[in-house]
Amino acid sequence: MSVPLDSIRPIRFENQQLILLDQRKLPSEEVYLTFTNVTSVATAIRDMVVRGAPAIGITAAYGIVLAAIKNIADMEPAFEQLANARPTAVNLFWALNKMRDALNTSAQLTHHERIVRLIDCADKIFQEDISNNYILGKLGASLIEKNSQIYTHCNAGALATGGYGTALGVIRSAFTDNKITHVYAGETRPWLQGARLTAWELMHEGIPMSLVTEGAAGQLLRQGNIQWIIVGADRISANGDVANKVGTYNLAVLAKYHNVKVMVVAPTSTFDLNLSTGEEIEIEQRDLNEVTHVMSVPMTPKNCHAINPSFDITPHELIDAIVCEKGILTAPFCKNIHSLLIGGSH
Ligand code: MRU
Repeated sequence: MSVPLDSIRPIRFENQQLILLDQRKLPSEEVYLTFTNVTSVATAIRDMVVRGAPAIGITAAYGIVLAAIKNIADMEPAFEQLANARPTAVNLFWALNKMRDALNTSAQLTHHERIVRLIDCADKIFQEDISNNYILGKLGASLIEKNSQIYTHCNAGALATGGYGTALGVIRSAFTDNKITHVYAGETRPWLQGARLTAWELMHEGIPMSLVTEGAAGQLLRQGNIQWIIVGADRISANGDVANKVGTYNLAVLAKYHNVKVMVVAPTSTFDLNLSTGEEIEIEQRDLNEVTHVMSVPMTPKNCHAINPSFDITPHELIDAIVCEKGILTAPFCKNIHSLLIGGSH
């Protein structure tokens, strides 16, 4: 299937090796790193060589393949290392469960057949992520009117997924349909996913964009020219509360005040129906140096205290639409999520 504006692929699995585009180096360098063991894959996830909820899940699936190639008889340490790499994005645990099922149901096969079965499972997770993103793109674009201007936060693009992106998939699709005139990308302190990655992706695709500091978002929304804030998600609880990159909540509060609509775009693998509300979602606390330093250069007085929650929770009341590959969810979210994802009445 050939889809416009779809040339970026951050993950490859070739000749039993995992190849990742090193997102720490973008945009100044395009460096691909090769991985052959699960420990280095877990470290790559923790250190943000690869990031973004669906991309983390795909990477973990191939990490399990690499572990099985080395020692299929002792897989628990591999599952544990990967599960401990990052806590918030549920796609990581979802993908590990899929791989565990493939491992368990192949126990009677030969070693070679089991490895093939695991590679097939990881490939399927990867390919389905991309095809779901095409569906998300079309569904989300159907909500956007002609001549719209969009604000997005963090990077929920090709780099954060198998390809095409969730929030940026909607932006790609709506831009292809001539509905978007301009995109504003929030820089996303402290790791600068917006400034480094979203700017790189949008410019790569020729989509008109401007970078904006988080602090300027209120003034931008106040001017009345933004129709939608479109973001991805790391975990969505059963009532529609959304964990996403820290700063999403601030934007959603601002959006409510200024009558700007908020769209969350995520595959069903990002939903965690075991959690009733967003309060139960674990928020990753990252290294304080990410706050006190910019690109490893210290910015604060020595020993300045900081905090670094990497995600926040946006309550469902502040969200207008959650787009997943099964359809578009609107309020009442709890009831509609239940019937779309599980079926039947709530
Ligand atoms: O810390 P990151 O860069 O992994 O955080 C990424 C985000 O918060 C994304 O918005 C989210 O994972 C959705 S990606 C399609």
